Amino acid sequence: MSQQSSNHEPNSLKPLQFGGLSIWPPIIQAPMAGYTGSVFREIQRENGCAYCYTEMVSAKGLIFGGDDSEEILFHTPGDRPLAVQLFGEDPEFVAKAARKVLDPSYGGFEAIDLNMGCPARKVTSPGSGGGLLKDLPRAIDMVRAVKEASGVPVTVKTRLGWDRSQDPCEIASALAEAGADMLVIHGRTVSQGFSGSADWDSIYRVAECVSIPVVGNGDITSAEEAVSKANSGRLAGVMVGRAILGNPFFFAQCLDLLRGQEKREYSTAEKMAVAIDHFRRAIERRGPRRGLLEMRKQLAFYLRGVKGASKLRDRINHESNPEGVIRILEEAAQS
Ligand SMILES: Cc1cc2nc3c(=O)[nH]c(=O)nc-3n(C[C@H](O)[C@H](O)[C@H](O)COP(=O)(O)O)c2cc1C
Repeated sequence: MSQQSSNHEPNSLKPLQFGGLSIWPPIIQAPMAGYTGSVFREIQRENGCAYCYTEMVSAKGLIFGGDDSEEILFHTPGDRPLAVQLFGEDPEFVAKAARKVLDPSYGGFEAIDLNMGCPARKVTSPGSGGGLLKDLPRAIDMVRAVKEASGVPVTVKTRLGWDRSQDPCEIASALAEAGADMLVIHGRTVSQGFSGSADWDSIYRVAECVSIPVVGNGDITSAEEAVSKANSGRLAGVMVGRAILGNPFFFAQCLDLLRGQEKREYSTAEKMAVAIDHFRRAIERRGPRRGLLEMRKQLAFYLRGVKGASKLRDRINHESNPEGVIRILEEAAQS
């Protein structure tokens, strides 16, 4: 199966290609738990994002139920191509979750991504997420088991190692040999968490060690930086996380640059119009109470850089009526 993103156009920048998928531009959305749900992804796609990930889903939660896995997996038919990201410690269990998630009742996914980078202690201590890097044979077994179970491309999102004592090339080569179709490397170690800065030289070196596509990730803050790193000729693509929070125009600006145009700047009013749209859709999909709670943190990002942002955030956090929140955002649009 070959799937082409609809906005592909002639450009020297090659699409990101793996497992029969072809993604252009090769600048993709990072999974972010608590943020990158279905409405967020819709907004990003409408503004030029060609490939998205779900938030990470617990294999155990998926099999045993009782957590929010089902909600995380929800996506609309237009939200494609989409990777579902799984985490867990036991290869056979994660493979079982992969089989389950690919049941057509979940709406379909183009790829299974395995989380081998999350540094949260509750994830690493049982040996999942970044904890898998402390037990490479288990990480390898997981890739093999999920490949065998799934029939869709299997990708891995990982880091440069558990700590600096590990050789990132050794990790990447082992994952590639186990059958991973693509790797995303966040240029930090798991022990580092989010401290320090992403080490792009090490990401580039990893890309030289393996023959599968490598996507670089970490600390990209602007469309210029995303395009220049994607254009470096050293990577198959780049992934952007925090810089797209509350910033719906990031991918549109990347497309401007890729087309050789000036990057369009957007006014506060334009940004608030998207924030209101995002908010309304979240309320509709999640209901007023959940929608409002979930949107508070998203709106805090939308308000970054807006005049009087901290007061506006405070007012939103104390507003329990969705129409009241919209009025505050309309007010922000005037600033
Ligand atoms: C709030 C938040 C939630 C995240 N959740 C996930 C996740 O579910 N799965 C994952 O692989 N990475 C997760 N990450 C890591 C990001 O995908 C990304 O690797 C990291 O933020 C570095 O990229 P950036 O500097 O562009 O943000 C999360 C990061 C943040 C800030």
